[in-house]
Amino acid sequence: MAYYPYTKVQLLLLILSIINLMMMTNASSFEPNVTESFEPKVTEIFVSNLPQNTVPLKVHCQSDDDDLGVRTLKVNETFNFSFRLNFWGDTHFYCAFLWGLNNNAFDVFFKRKSPCRFQIPMKDIYCTWLAEDSGIYFARTRDPNPSPGDFRFVYPWL
Ligand SMILES: *[C@@H]1O[C@H](CO)[C@@H](O)[C@H](O)[C@H]1NC(C)=O
Ligand SMILES: *[C@@H]1O[C@H](CO)[C@@H](O)[C@H](O)[C@H]1NC(C)=O
Ligand SMILES: *[C@@H]1O[C@H](CO)[C@@H](O)[C@H](O)[C@H]1NC(C)=O
Repeated sequence: MAYYPYTKVQLLLLILSIINLMMMTNASSFEPNVTESFEPKVTEIFVSNLPQNTVPLKVHCQSDDDDLGVRTLKVNETFNFSFRLNFWGDTHFYCAFLWGLNNNAFDVFFKRKSPCRFQIPMKDIYCTWLAEDSGIYFARTRDPNPSPGDFRFVYPWL
């Protein structure tokens, strides 16, 4: 019979104390801003800046789990929604935009595949999608009020 320096119970205790030690190290180094670093919030903002006297913009956003419904935006109207990353980091939101016969649909958040994505350091971000007659413009900012210079053209009308 082989010789075991520790009984199974001692071994288990040793493993548990090592795990505990590792968790304590993590906790102490990350404690100051746990929510800041691990659950940053994304706010998606939609604004219509389409010409007056045209049909309103329809925005239909969905995640893999939820259908946020169709929102109708007149000129200068806005709506927004917020979410935090899920545990797996694969939170997925996509929206379809319809303006008369013009349309487009794309991810408004999906890993690093959308212009709306986190930068390091991961802090709350505001992603603003601005519909103009020439297409969809986008701004990613740390505060909810982007300035005109923050926007860039991202998607055309199809
Ligand atoms: C956590 O982040 C917030 C917002 O950025 C900041 O105001 C606060 O001072 C931070 N707290 C610590 C302990 O660093
Ligand atoms: C939309 O907002 C812009 C800028 O605030 C303003 O100049 C314009 O008159 C507004 N248009 C309508 C239809 O309210
Ligand atoms: C989001 O919409 C709510 C309700 O209309 C509004 O009170 C809030 O200011 C909006 N937030 C942003 C960041 O636009």
